[in-house]
Amino acid sequence: MKENTEASRRNFLKKLGTATAAVSLGSNVFARDKRSGLFTYLKRHQGGIGANDRINLALIGAGGQGSSDTETALQIPGVKLVAVCDLYDGRLADAKKRWGADLFTTKIYKEILNRTDIDAVIIGTPDFWHQQISIDAMHAGKHVYCEKPMVHSITEGPAIIKAQHETGKIFQVGSQGVSSLGNEKAKELLASGAIGQLNYAEGFWARRGAVEVWEYPIPADASPQTVDWETYVSNTIKRPFDEKRFFRWRNYVDYGTGMAGDLFVHLFSSLHFITGSLGPEKIYASGGLRFWHDGREVPDVLLGTFDYGKTMAHPAFNLSLRCNFVDGTSGSTYLKLVGSEGSMDITWDKVVLKRNKVFESDDPFYAEKMRNAGDVNPERKRMLPPEEITYEAEKGYLGGPYDHFSNFFNAIRNSGKVTEDATFGYRAAAPALLCNDSYFKNEPMFWNPEKMVKI
Ligand SMILES: NC(=O)c1ccc[n+]([C@@H]2O[C@H](COP(=O)([O-])OP(=O)(O)OC[C@H]3O[C@@H](n4cnc5c(N)ncnc54)[C@H](O)[C@@H]3O)[C@@H](O)[C@H]2O)c1
Repeated sequence: MKENTEASRRNFLKKLGTATAAVSLGSNVFARDKRSGLFTYLKRHQGGIGANDRINLALIGAGGQGSSDTETALQIPGVKLVAVCDLYDGRLADAKKRWGADLFTTKIYKEILNRTDIDAVIIGTPDFWHQQISIDAMHAGKHVYCEKPMVHSITEGPAIIKAQHETGKIFQVGSQGVSSLGNEKAKELLASGAIGQLNYAEGFWARRGAVEVWEYPIPADASPQTVDWETYVSNTIKRPFDEKRFFRWRNYVDYGTGMAGDLFVHLFSSLHFITGSLGPEKIYASGGLRFWHDGREVPDVLLGTFDYGKTMAHPAFNLSLRCNFVDGTSGSTYLKLVGSEGSMDITWDKVVLKRNKVFESDDPFYAEKMRNAGDVNPERKRMLPPEEITYEAEKGYLGGPYDHFSNFFNAIRNSGKVTEDATFGYRAAAPALLCNDSYFKNEPMFWNPEKMVKI
């Protein structure tokens, strides 16, 4: 592994070319000169759309994310929305306002699956409905774009993988970052040795506002007359109607997956894509409910640590993920990969690569060693390579969500494959769900990422 890393580091330096010459022009030359040939600039290819390439789409779960997904999907040429399912009248009325009065709407998702004119569905329901609707949809012959986390419980993953294999349908999970230019660039840089040997990664979310931390407004007309509560709880513990449990579902373990399932899962997806990892082996969580005593059952501060073992794809490394919903500074989210030669800060449309400074040494033994190695003037100043290089997406880039849907529809049209399929989605969801298990059980969890079994 070390030899490979050393070879790829040399490769990266070679790609930097005559780094010293570039420095004399200013280190920003790399950031600006994206088409210079020093680095491959990632481009998107969207093939032409034939008459038979039209894809009829339906949305199941027309809340915030499902609606946003649908808007993104409709930007792809040849995609048409024909039906929407939701359990709340207000959402169905909004859908008709937004996408046209002739839209077919229903509260029964099987009515969508029974329609033969629908090719693909987006599943934007709360987490606890993902598995059942995904499996039913694939068996009904639909391709599925299922929001993250793919599953609500660690036991639910294998059945989705099985359904995907049995039906041959395209199934993609909704962690959009995986399809972004930023993630692709980070993957390429890591492979080329830009940060040397990976040893550590970290991710962080800081939030503070009530809506940001899941205290969503409850519509004035919320009632058992406007909400199909019976269906909502039909696959979980039956309880009397509770508007908070419907509109603020993320706060309750029956329906949501806490900070880890909601947020950590995105970073597992990106990290696994960038590093080629299958997942961590050991998971340990700590945290607490510090502020939002609003009846929620999940912590509002959560720290997770994850040990990744050495594989053919990467050396052993550690991951630290943190989430704070009472952070007075608010608003920050990041993913950083750290290696022996530098680090990368990664977003969907930007990667900031920082590399080690070349340290000067006034150590006389070092000077003597250099003299012995033939350097007659070891004190002489040298040309330094750039310390920081920023890669930014070209202006007009449509973003990770667009690319993710583009990949989904291309796979459908070309009988192709997607990266974030059921197996990938399960490997991203599992450590997040085990992080919750570790928090609630107050003990470390062990996972075999290759076989996808809890130990
Ligand atoms: N990829 C991302 O960046 C991202 C961002 C936000 C949310 N999400 C995911 O999207 C999903 C939805 O989150 P949200 O914030 O949009 O929640 P939301 O509460 O705004 O929307 C959920 C909708 O599903 C409906 N619903 C509930 N059960 C249903 C059922 N059985 N059949 C049909 N409709 C049902 C609800 O009425 C509601 O309108 C979650 O899994 C979440 O983790 C992903």
